[in-house]
Amino acid sequence: MDVLSGGELRRAVVLGSVTDVQFDAIFPARIEAASRCYWTPMRVARSASELLARHGARNVLDVGSGAGKFCLVNACLAPGIQFTGVEQRPSLVRAATDAARLLSLDNVEFRLGDATTVDWHLYDAFYFFNPFAENSFPIEDQFDDTVELSRRKEHADVERVESGLLRAPIGACVLTYHGFGGRIPACYELADEVESGLSVVRAWRKRTDGRPEDGYWLELPEGGITRYEESSAERRVLRAVRAAAVDADGAEEV
Ligand SMILES: C[S@@+](CC[C@H](N)C(=O)[O-])C[C@H]1O[C@@H](n2cnc3c(N)ncnc32)[C@H](O)[C@@H]1O
Repeated sequence: MDVLSGGELRRAVVLGSVTDVQFDAIFPARIEAASRCYWTPMRVARSASELLARHGARNVLDVGSGAGKFCLVNACLAPGIQFTGVEQRPSLVRAATDAARLLSLDNVEFRLGDATTVDWHLYDAFYFFNPFAENSFPIEDQFDDTVELSRRKEHADVERVESGLLRAPIGACVLTYHGFGGRIPACYELADEVESGLSVVRAWRKRTDGRPEDGYWLELPEGGITRYEESSAERRVLRAVRAAAVDADGAEEV
C-alpha cells in the first residue's frame, strides 16, 4: 500500500478518494489496529460532515475523541468549522495531536480530560460515537487498562451527558452514531437521519429549554427511536439501578 504524505492524505480526504485503511496508516500501529471497532469510519465521518454543514455548526465537540479520526477527517472537509476532541487517554491525545500536525490542520485541537465535565455552552454541536460502551466490554475487547473502566463510571458518564444536554444552548446540534448509551432529552427533536455504515447518524436539534420531567428519546438498539415520559416511579427505579451499579463496582474492587 502506498503511504501518503500529510498533504496528499488531506487532499485525498477532501476528494473522497481515501479508504479507511489508507487514513488509519497515519496512526501508530496499535491504534491503527483498533480502528474497525473504535474509530469513526470515513463514510460515517463524511455523513456527519454533511449534517454539520446543513445544521450550521461552527464549534464542534467530539465527546471521547479517541485517536481523533472523526475530528481530523471533519477538519479536512470543513476548514470553517472548529473541532475540539476531549479524550481521557493520554496516548490517544498524543496520537491525535501528531496526526493534526501532519495534516497541517489549524481548526482542530485535542485535550486530555473527562469529556463529560466540559462547559456545554462553549459548543454548538456535539458528536457521540458510543463513547462509554467500553466500560461494559469484556476485558479482552477493551482498548487498554490505562483508565478506569466500570459500570459505575459508565452510569456516571451517561448521567452527566444527559444533564449536560439539558444545559446545552438552544439550537445545539447533537450527532449520534450508535448513540451514547443514554437518553436524549425531549427538548431535542430528530432533525435528520442518514444511513451510514452499519448504523445511522442522527442529528438532534435542541428546540427549547428542557427539564427531565418532559421526557426523553431513546435510540433503540434494533434501530428506530421512541419517545417516553418517565414517571416518578421509573425515575426512582433508574436511580436505584445506577446506585446498585456503583455498589456492585465498589464490591468488585474490594
Ligand atoms: C468509540 S471511541 C470513539 C473515538 C472517536 N470519537 C471517533 O469516533 O473516532 C470512544 C472514546 O471515548 C473515550 N472516552 C470514554 N469515556 C470518556 C470520558 N468520560 N472522557 C473522555 N474520553 C472518554 C474512550 O477512551 C475512547 O477513546
